[in-house]
Amino acid sequence: MDTAPKRVEHQMTDKGYVPVYTTAVVDQPWDTYTSIDHDVWATLFERQQKLLVGRAGDEFLASQRAMGMAPDRIPKFDDLNRMLRKATGWELVGVEGLLPELTFFDHLANRRFPVTWWIRTPEQLDYLSEPDLFHDLFGHVPLLMNPVFADYMQAYGRGGVKAHGIGEAALVNLTRLYWYTVEFGLIRQPDGLRIYGAGIVSSKGESIHCLESAAPNRIGFDLERVMRTRYRIDTYQKTYFVIDSYEQLMEATGPDFAPIYEKLAALDSIPAGNVLDTDTVFNAGTGEGWLDDGDV
Ligand code: PHE
Ligand code: FE
Repeated sequence: MDTAPKRVEHQMTDKGYVPVYTTAVVDQPWDTYTSIDHDVWATLFERQQKLLVGRAGDEFLASQRAMGMAPDRIPKFDDLNRMLRKATGWELVGVEGLLPELTFFDHLANRRFPVTWWIRTPEQLDYLSEPDLFHDLFGHVPLLMNPVFADYMQAYGRGGVKAHGIGEAALVNLTRLYWYTVEFGLIRQPDGLRIYGAGIVSSKGESIHCLESAAPNRIGFDLERVMRTRYRIDTYQKTYFVIDSYEQLMEATGPDFAPIYEKLAALDSIPAGNVLDTDTVFNAGTGEGWLDDGDV
């Protein structure tokens, strides 16, 4: 294959052979990107750019413009870092892939965002099961230019370090919050619902599905509700949670979570597609195309 090799090893565990990524920060090997890699970036960038007009939130689009990423070639982390440091003090660090939870939280708590250095192949344009450079850079990095969202991400990292010390159930609650905000969040603007979650903005299919399909629920953000809700990792989400603003998100997540974790430990989790009487419902999903199992 013509792309730079991924340096992923495997290790035998009780779940069979699983990939082991190095947790180290790596320099972006920019010179090793092939013309195919740059083409993949250009294709995805232009495709999403068009789709996101009128679909992505104003802050996302403004941040993306301010940052000046362009389709012509894969951006250099060093160039983006000059902009980011000035805007919000965040910095990108290159990594091999997914990190152990505590390592990831520690980066965020210190305003470092880990970015996968390699990009998907042309065969994976529409879907791949793990984050790559396109998802991380195009999806996550623009909003780090936004001061409120930038602070939220750091607070999340600190909260993660804390939850890690509390226990597995707390981490599950906190991970759901990340999933339904940072990855799959929607935001309500005067002109309608818009996308800000990185998992959506970097996906052609889900950018359309999350806003225009009648299938999924679109429900007003509520911290404890979100922390109890299971999610999908291999299909579109059955439910999207809608914030009114990043300030709302920041305020809702400000309180100490320790007593909340304790309270939630006594409550059942909520299946990904359920609607509750207490929900603020923007759309009650038809459930069309949903699989019955597979909630995480
Ligand atoms: N307030 C949370 C805590 O005490 C920290 C946090 C902030 C978590 C923002 C997520 C997002 O754990
Ligand atoms: Fe992500």
